[in-house]
Amino acid sequence: MSVIPVDLRSDTVTRPTSAMREAMAAAEVGDDQYGEDPTVRALEGEVAERLGHEAAVFVPSGTMGNNIALRLLADPGTEVLADNDSHVVTYEVGSLAAIGGIQTRTLMSDGGILGHEAVAAQLRVDPHGRSVKGSNYAMVETRAVAVENTHVRSGGRAWRLAEIDALVEVTQPVGVELHCDGARIWNASVATGIGLEEYGRRFATLSVCMSKGLGAPVGSLVVTSAERAGRARTLRRQLGGAMRQSGVVAAGALHALRHHLDRLADDHFRAKSLALALEEVAPGRLVADRVETNLVLFEVCDANAFVTDAAKRGVLLGAISPTVVRAVTHLDVDDEQLARAIEILRPMLDADVSRSLVDAGSSV
Ligand SMILES: Cc1ncc(COP(=O)(O)O)c(C=O)c1O
Repeated sequence: MSVIPVDLRSDTVTRPTSAMREAMAAAEVGDDQYGEDPTVRALEGEVAERLGHEAAVFVPSGTMGNNIALRLLADPGTEVLADNDSHVVTYEVGSLAAIGGIQTRTLMSDGGILGHEAVAAQLRVDPHGRSVKGSNYAMVETRAVAVENTHVRSGGRAWRLAEIDALVEVTQPVGVELHCDGARIWNASVATGIGLEEYGRRFATLSVCMSKGLGAPVGSLVVTSAERAGRARTLRRQLGGAMRQSGVVAAGALHALRHHLDRLADDHFRAKSLALALEEVAPGRLVADRVETNLVLFEVCDANAFVTDAAKRGVLLGAISPTVVRAVTHLDVDDEQLARAIEILRPMLDADVSRSLVDAGSSV
């Protein structure tokens, strides 16, 4: 009998629970492009309220959410500052440049956290807060800074309010706005105890995903002011992301929001257990100095080979660089599966450590 592999590739792989499927089947729907889908309206209202904003717009994906949100803040020919390893820079096929005509300028972050001094030093604005174009017509004007909470490629690190406030302090006086790629803002809030509204009101726009840790099958939302939400709907239509009876999927997202938020703490606990178990056999191999949420990154000699080997043994992982492997806990990973994954991964990592010692010895 073949055993189903433990799938730790991403928290996007979850399947709707039966309660979620029931909610989706029973959803009241209408044509959302006529503004007539009550379930989509309910989802948009609830997400906006939880994040302390006036409005939210349901979109098919986080990539579209980031694209629309940042285009609300930056025009073609202006720039957005983002960290070097952010999702908008790494995994969105250059969507801001290709579709929005926006230049992204990248900064190094400290474990996913953009320092306010580094940002302040790079802002291209008139020091008196006027458009830079008034003083130098050739310069690219900075319109926004994008932060990612939690930060994926740093191992799920959550932003603290003081870190965001420090950015607000250097950007607000010169009219530069903050965007949050909050695909996993739910995890950040549960891990830190910082309320969603506390996070939300510090940003001009947010893009939040229902299809990651919360476990809905589809959908993200752009969260912002009522005025900007109108423009977001126009941009969504232009991208082909405006939907019709989307209440069917919005019902899954609403169910996720109402029933799966607090349980993210279980995913975080399992991620910590996994990290501890791996750290025991391979000290110093974890990429983040602490595992706060549901992502565990660890270094190996050859990430693709490690992932292929793990898959053969029954654990699915992701390679996020030539030497870094990622494991993500989520709704569809229970204690039994986690224990199985640990049992398989520990000897593999142990062997990887021995191999690196041999390699180091032979190169002396
Ligand atoms: C931090 C972050 N932002 C945005 C996205 C994009 O979401 P989607 O795959 O729905 O486009 C992802 C997807 O994994 C993500 O991890």
